[in-house]
Order: sequence, then structure tokens, then C-alpha cells
Amino acid sequence: MSAAPEAKFTEETVLWVKQLTPKLMSFAITRPHSYRFSAGQFSRLGFRDGAGYIWRAYSIVSAEYADTLEYFVILIENGAMSQRLAQMQAGQSILLDKTAFGFLLPGRFTDGEDLIMLSTGSGIAPFLSMLQQPQLWERFQHIGLVHSVSYANELVFNQRVEEFHQHPLVAEYAHKLSWQPVVTREETNGALNQRLPELLHNGSLAQGLNLAFSPQRTRFMLCGNPAMVADTFKTLLNMGYSMHRNKLPGQIIMENGF
Ligand SMILES: Cc1cc2nc3c(=O)[nH]c(=O)nc-3n(C[C@H](O)[C@H](O)[C@H](O)COP(=O)(O)OP(=O)(O)OC[C@H]3O[C@@H](n4cnc5c(N)ncnc54)[C@H](O)[C@@H]3O)c2cc1C
Ligand SMILES: NC(=O)c1ccc[n+]([C@@H]2O[C@H](COP(=O)([O-])OP(=O)(O)OC[C@H]3O[C@@H](n4cnc5c(N)ncnc54)[C@H](OP(=O)(O)O)[C@@H]3O)[C@@H](O)[C@H]2O)c1
Repeated sequence: MSAAPEAKFTEETVLWVKQLTPKLMSFAITRPHSYRFSAGQFSRLGFRDGAGYIWRAYSIVSAEYADTLEYFVILIENGAMSQRLAQMQAGQSILLDKTAFGFLLPGRFTDGEDLIMLSTGSGIAPFLSMLQQPQLWERFQHIGLVHSVSYANELVFNQRVEEFHQHPLVAEYAHKLSWQPVVTREETNGALNQRLPELLHNGSLAQGLNLAFSPQRTRFMLCGNPAMVADTFKTLLNMGYSMHRNKLPGQIIMENGF
């Protein structure tokens, strides 16, 4: 990504950094009063880099009403930004593009009763933000959250999902949530272990979530590995679902997570 001109970003402070596993981390930064976003959008974060800048996109984990901005990151071996983030400490400064971006917005669906959130890896981040918005829970009868990772130790949000049942703004609706972890490279209790397109195709995902899927009822949001997004989209097309466009309503909204 090219550098944003000076006037287009603010300089924020890193508030905390948590190393969750050797390749997974989360952190929070200060939020300027003027920073507006809708749950599901991503920020552009950057650092000064020699005479220029390095910028990358990161989905916002925080609620729209949060005082700070939280992010969840998968560190990529030898990745330029990953190397900077791996060294980052509280108190350090980080650049934040003043604009939030993206169209992975559940409010774009004008009909449908159940919402299924399909994610791989860091693609769960925008869904954690959406799930803190009471309007989302009021809007849908059932919500299915699905997170596919390769290894069980990458399921770092089990506790966070549990906490929706005590969340001050959404606990009263949390009975609507079905949570289905997927671990693709090892057998894990409570998790399915095939990739998302196969799980959709063979009915195991609907069974795991205890929800019947149909084009009338069900709306899908996809975020994560671009190959997963493409393969899952194809599978859903074959199952009779279509891309949602604002002028031509359908059942699928998606975003490539990198
Ligand atoms: C819309 C959008 C939202 C994003 N949100 C997040 C986020 O919330 N958390 C996050 O960790 N990253 C996110 N990314 C990816 C992020 O922008 C960076 O690409 C990533 O941090 C790696 O940067 P890098 O400079 O270290 O390596 P890069 O040179 O940018 O990437 C090297 C390679 O690593 C792989 N890769 C990059 N990001 C990921 C990832 N998240 N998971 C698995 N493989 C990946 C890709 O194959 C990529 O070609 C997002 C990207 C986009 C486009
Ligand atoms: N996780 C690893 O074993 C590993 C090892 C070395 C390097 N890396 C690199 O580290 C980065 C992050 O890896 P990550 O494991 O967090 O993210 P990832 O590779 O995006 O994997 C996350 C989840 O997405 C699944 N997935 C990948 N392609 C898919 C597709 N076409 N359809 C459906 N599901 C799909 C994976 O299944 P599968 O497990 O079946 O792929 C896994 O369950 C990537 O650049 C990766 O190449 C990963």
C-alpha cells in the first residue's frame, strides 16, 4: 500500500500488546474522537519507514462505541509489517489513516432471518466487532459464528465468544448465537475438521450450528483467506445462493482478509 499523505493520518499510541501464540497477537491503540467506523470495517495502520511509510489493512475488533481500537494479527514470517508489529510495545506510536474502509457490513442485508459468519484465521476479527452491536442481534433471529484454523491452539477467541453471554449490551440476545470452531489439521474436541466449502456441501456445518440453511432464511458473510472466500463463494453459488449487491439483493457478502 502506498503512503497516505500527512493530513490523512493521525499518530496514535499503542496501549497494550498481547502475544497470544508465537504467530498470533492482539493489541489496542488510542482512538481519536473523530475516528468513525461501522462494525465490519478495517483500518489502515502504518509506521514511518526510512524516508517513507509502511501501511497495511487491519480489521477492527472493537465495538463502534469503544474508546480504544483493538486489532488481531497473524504474524507472517519475514513479512515487512509483521516484523514491525512483532517488536511493538505499549507506549510506542503508530499511524492511523483517518478513514475506515470496507463493505463487510451486515446492515446491507435488507432481508433474511439468520446470519452465518464464516471466517478463517484473522477473518474472525470483523465478526467480533459486529457481535458487540446490539442492533445486529435485534435484526437476526439466529447468528452462526464459524472460525476455521489449521491447529487447535489458533482458536484464541473461545473465551471471548463465551463472554457475549455476560456482555452488558448483548447478553440478553446471546442465546441466539451458535459457535462452531473448525480445526483443519488435527482432531479437536468440539471442532469440525474439514474445510468450509466441504462442510457446507456435506451439510456438517448446518448440523454443527443446528440451523437449517435456505436462500429464503440464511445470509452468509465470508472473511479470511482469499482462496477460502473464492472456494466458499463457488460452493454457495452451486447451492443456490447469490452475491448480495445493493441494487440486486442476494445472500452473500464477502471480503478477502489479505
Ligand atoms: C481488508 C483487509 C483486512 C485485513 N485485516 C487483517 C487483520 O485483521 N489481521 C491480520 O493479521 N491481517 C489482516 N490483513 C492482512 C494485513 O494487511 C497484512 O497483509 C499482514 O499483516 C501481513 O503483512 P506483512 O507486511 O507482514 O506481509 P505481506 O507482505 O503483506 O503478506 C505476505 C503474505 O502473507 C499472507 N498473509 C497476509 N496476511 C495474512 C493473514 N492475516 N492471514 C494469513 N495469511 C496472511 C499472504 O499470503 C501474503 O501474501 C488484512 C488485509 C486486508 C486486505
Ligand atoms: N498454519 C500453518 O500450518 C502454516 C504453516 C506455515 C506457514 N503458514 C503461513 O502463515 C500464514 C498464516 O497461516 P494461517 O494458518 O493462520 O492462515 P490460513 O493459511 O489462511 O489458514 C486458516 C484456515 O483457512 C483454511 N483454508 C485455507 N485455504 C482454504 C480454502 N481454499 N478453502 C477453505 N479453507 C481454507 C485453512 O485450512 P488448511 O489448514 O486445510 O489449510 C485453515 O483452516 C499464511 O501465510 C500461511 O501460508 C501457515
